[in-house]
Amino acid sequence: MRRLLLALWISQIAQCSCPPGFELVRDGECRGKYASIEEANKDAIKVATEKCGEIKGQPIIIHNEEHQTYWMNRALDERPPNIATAFIMIGLVCNISSKRYEWADGSSVDYRPPSDEGSAMDRDCEPRCVCDLSSKGLWDCGCSPPGVVTPHSHDLFCTTQSNQFPPLSDCESINDESSDGVCYQVGAISDSWQDAQATCQQRGGNLASIHNMQENSFIRRLAVTQGAVNGVFLGGTITGEANEFGWIDGTTWDFDNFYSGFPMRGAGDCIAMDTSTTNGQWMNVDCSSKLPIACIQTTTAPSSTCITGPYDEGSIISSPGFPFSASTPCDFFLTVEEGKKVELEMLFLEANTCCDYVTIYDGFLGGNIIANVTGEVSNAKYTTTSSNSMRVSWQPNGGVNVKGMQITFRGV
Ligand SMILES: *[C@@H]1O[C@H](CO)[C@@H](O)[C@H](O)[C@H]1NC(C)=O
Ligand SMILES: *[C@@H]1O[C@H](CO)[C@@H](O)[C@H](O)[C@H]1NC(C)=O
Repeated sequence: MRRLLLALWISQIAQCSCPPGFELVRDGECRGKYASIEEANKDAIKVATEKCGEIKGQPIIIHNEEHQTYWMNRALDERPPNIATAFIMIGLVCNISSKRYEWADGSSVDYRPPSDEGSAMDRDCEPRCVCDLSSKGLWDCGCSPPGVVTPHSHDLFCTTQSNQFPPLSDCESINDESSDGVCYQVGAISDSWQDAQATCQQRGGNLASIHNMQENSFIRRLAVTQGAVNGVFLGGTITGEANEFGWIDGTTWDFDNFYSGFPMRGAGDCIAMDTSTTNGQWMNVDCSSKLPIACIQTTTAPSSTCITGPYDEGSIISSPGFPFSASTPCDFFLTVEEGKKVELEMLFLEANTCCDYVTIYDGFLGGNIIANVTGEVSNAKYTTTSSNSMRVSWQPNGGVNVKGMQITFRGV
């Protein structure tokens, strides 16, 4: 039951942060092919900018050697057989007042490709110009005269930032120094506890944990003012080998406010608060109940201390600072019963493919590399060949603007 619960929960959170088909490259930037557009359209660049805007992105913008090389190679990848040179549209737009090109995001052309003598960048531009990057690395701008149309469709590439946390809007805090940096939200009815937790996660939080009566009263009052007058899901659920209740946000179980007789055997594995009475008492309920949710967000970053172990099978292990920062390296040492093998499940990974890696080793020291992983991964499994121990080495090289990883493991 517990495993099922975890699996369900995880499948909800393990969504990619980049649009489908995009690659998470560096500094949390996703790059990829988004659509096909007609370049015959003299407003091609405007259309491109609008299209990329649908995913809060921009057409290709080149500010340095890394951008130039990356996109030149993408153009090369796009080159059909028997065609010498391929072109992809870049986000240069004409500033009509200065008659100079600038980038679609308003930034100036501060980088030029090597050997671009006689480049369009040195000539006056016109509004109907459309610029391409060739697989040979040159920028080429075509400015068809009005009325002249050479229709051909063009793949549109965009860049966008991987999903960052939404601002802490609608956030209510307790006015108390002891609760500094913690805020609460009560949201709509969800289909299940797992759904509720997924929703909180998408907002950069967790289902709420409660550690004293003041927090309890606060959430109860907040719930009632939001119309949740019957009950709300809290972040308590059965966790760990001991089959006891724990908080999904990982905080200590140091307070409870159950009705007497609760938790009641068989009543369910998830916790809800009854908001219909002033005491806001708790009961354990079926996780598939339909209840409004109470989320908690910690605005202060979680600890970014590396804890190498020991870990229990089935526990969820996060890289230090997850999900707010990913810059601290950490090695995790995992063992299972002798005679069994370690099956690691990479529940979630968001790492820059340029720089951040997870290396999975058979055994603790001197073992073979089972896998060396980067980018966006969810629900991937890796198993040792014979050893009952595994080393999982999280080696970010910056870990800029990405969330890091969450893993779990078991003996098989
Ligand atoms: C166009 O260029 C002028 C002069 O360089 C600048 O002041 C202006 O902000 C630019 N216009 C736009 C729309 O970026
Ligand atoms: C993992 O792959 C990256 C990129 O290919 C490489 O730089 C790194 O050294 C690899 N790590 C190990 C331990 O092999």
